[in-house]
Amino acid sequence: MTLRPRLTKNALVFGGVAAWGLLLISCVAVNRTLVAPPSIPGATFVGNKACAECHEETTSHFGGSSHARLAIADAKVGETGCEACHGPGSLHVKAGGTKSTIINPQKSPESCFECHLDKRGEFSLPYSHAVMSGKMSCGECHDPHKGKATKGTGASLQTQAEACTECHTAQKGPFIFKHNAMKEGCTSCHRPHGSVNQKMLAAPDSNVCLQCHATGSSPGMLFAGGRDHAGNPVNGSCWVAGCHEAVHGSNVSHALRF
Ligand code: HEC
Ligand code: HEC
Ligand code: HEC
Ligand code: HEC
Ligand code: HEC
Ligand code: HEC
Ligand code: HEC
Repeated sequence: MTLRPRLTKNALVFGGVAAWGLLLISCVAVNRTLVAPPSIPGATFVGNKACAECHEETTSHFGGSSHARLAIADAKVGETGCEACHGPGSLHVKAGGTKSTIINPQKSPESCFECHLDKRGEFSLPYSHAVMSGKMSCGECHDPHKGKATKGTGASLQTQAEACTECHTAQKGPFIFKHNAMKEGCTSCHRPHGSVNQKMLAAPDSNVCLQCHATGSSPGMLFAGGRDHAGNPVNGSCWVAGCHEAVHGSNVSHALRF
């Protein structure tokens, strides 16, 4: 199976990913450490039109989505965007739609890795969401069928933080003393795909905070929040008990102490 882009704007991106995908898949066959992209044995491509017959709702707004331009070369059945993630669908259609005849990436991220290989590495880092074990799906944070695939971007009404706080209610607020860093989204401090640092933090230490708060330094001094902090970080990170424990916002402390 080869994949081709249908619009030149994305030709480079897509060409690049697909080439890597194919390259790695062929290496895999040799050392058998990774599984091949998932598909139902014996099934062939039927095209989006066939899917529309029964999944009208999903197909009708698919045209504007990030993945609508995906196509499978040589399939000769028109648009094949659905099958780029769900695998060839002929047996599913023939059976009138059964679960065992179609790939559902909610159960496994393998079809996403076919093109987004780097994400396999990110989700294998020591601290990450439980996508590799199938307890969580890429679809929990990304919408594959409608609009921009990343929630909180494009025309989506939901902000990125809202997508996270659907599950992480403790970080939702509202807080009396807000931390303005939250305006820039959770990803200014966290790496939701995975990190080598605890709590999926962007850095293991106070550098998480200093990326925004370091207002200058002179020998032996470190300015943050308008005062010298040079003596403080040696005792731990900025968010140790007694300092700025309430990094997401506080209802009692202006300085986010607790
Ligand atoms: C003849 C009608 C029909 C057609 C055509 C059809 N489906 Fe389905 N599909 C169904 C039905 C019915 C279910 C629900 C199965 C169930 O819940 O047991 C389903 C379920 C699914 C599921 C969810 C499976 C799961 O694990 O829950 C996916 C994904 C899917 N279809 C994708 C597709 C794609 C992609 C196409 C086009 C290649 C397609 N379908 C064409 C009837 C159809
Ligand atoms: C970018 C990959 C991708 C593409 C392209 C894609 N899907 Fe899906 N689909 C998914 C994922 C991921 C899920 C599981 C969502 C979740 O985890 O909640 C899913 C779930 C489904 C389901 C079952 C759940 C539901 O929403 O009813 C159906 C049916 C379905 N897709 C049909 C389609 C059809 C039809 C198309 C083409 C118009 C299509 N998909 C294109 C990734 C994709
Ligand atoms: C056949 C290749 C292919 C597969 C399979 C695929 N993607 Fe993509 N994906 C792409 C390409 C190409 C782009 C860039 C599209 C663009 O920039 O317009 C992209 C972009 C994205 C983006 C960022 C763009 C945005 O609008 O936010 C996300 C998030 C994403 N994909 C998630 C997924 C998930 C989740 C799956 C599995 C359910 C998946 N992709 C499966 C090819 C693929
Ligand atoms: C816990 C939520 C979450 C999960 C689960 C998740 N993502 Fe993401 N993803 C995000 C966020 C947030 C962004 C935007 C990152 C940014 O703006 O810095 C993103 C961005 C992306 C992008 C575009 C930018 C980039 O890094 O290339 C792709 C592609 C992507 N995700 C693919 C995936 C795939 C594939 C999976 C499943 C294997 C997945 N994501 C699971 C939250 C998630
Ligand atoms: C579908 C629910 C869900 C969504 C959406 C979600 N998460 Fe999570 N998250 C979890 C679960 C489950 C855990 C692991 C359980 C735990 O340790 O609390 C977790 C763990 C975390 C942790 C580490 C917690 C710890 O104590 O080590 C961070 C940080 C985190 N998520 C941030 C995010 C961010 C940022 C987003 C949005 C981009 C996001 N999450 C979206 C369910 C979700
Ligand atoms: C200003 C940086 C920053 C931002 C922005 C941020 N976090 Fe955090 N987050 C942290 C730090 C630092 C920790 C570690 C706290 C600790 O270990 O006591 C943490 C811990 C967590 C935890 C683990 C639970 C806990 O209290 O230890 C979760 C879950 C979490 N953050 C989710 C989110 C979500 C969801 C968002 C966006 C709505 C977000 N964070 C935005 C810095 C941030
Ligand atoms: C994305 C940028 C950004 C990051 C990262 C960030 N902050 Fe902030 N923080 C702000 C902004 C903006 C304000 C409000 C303006 C100000 O006081 O500088 C603020 C305010 C604060 C305040 C309140 C100061 C006061 O007295 O009103 C504290 C305390 C604070 N941050 C601590 C932290 C800690 C601890 C971290 C690391 C876990 C952190 N910040 C990470 C942007 C950031």
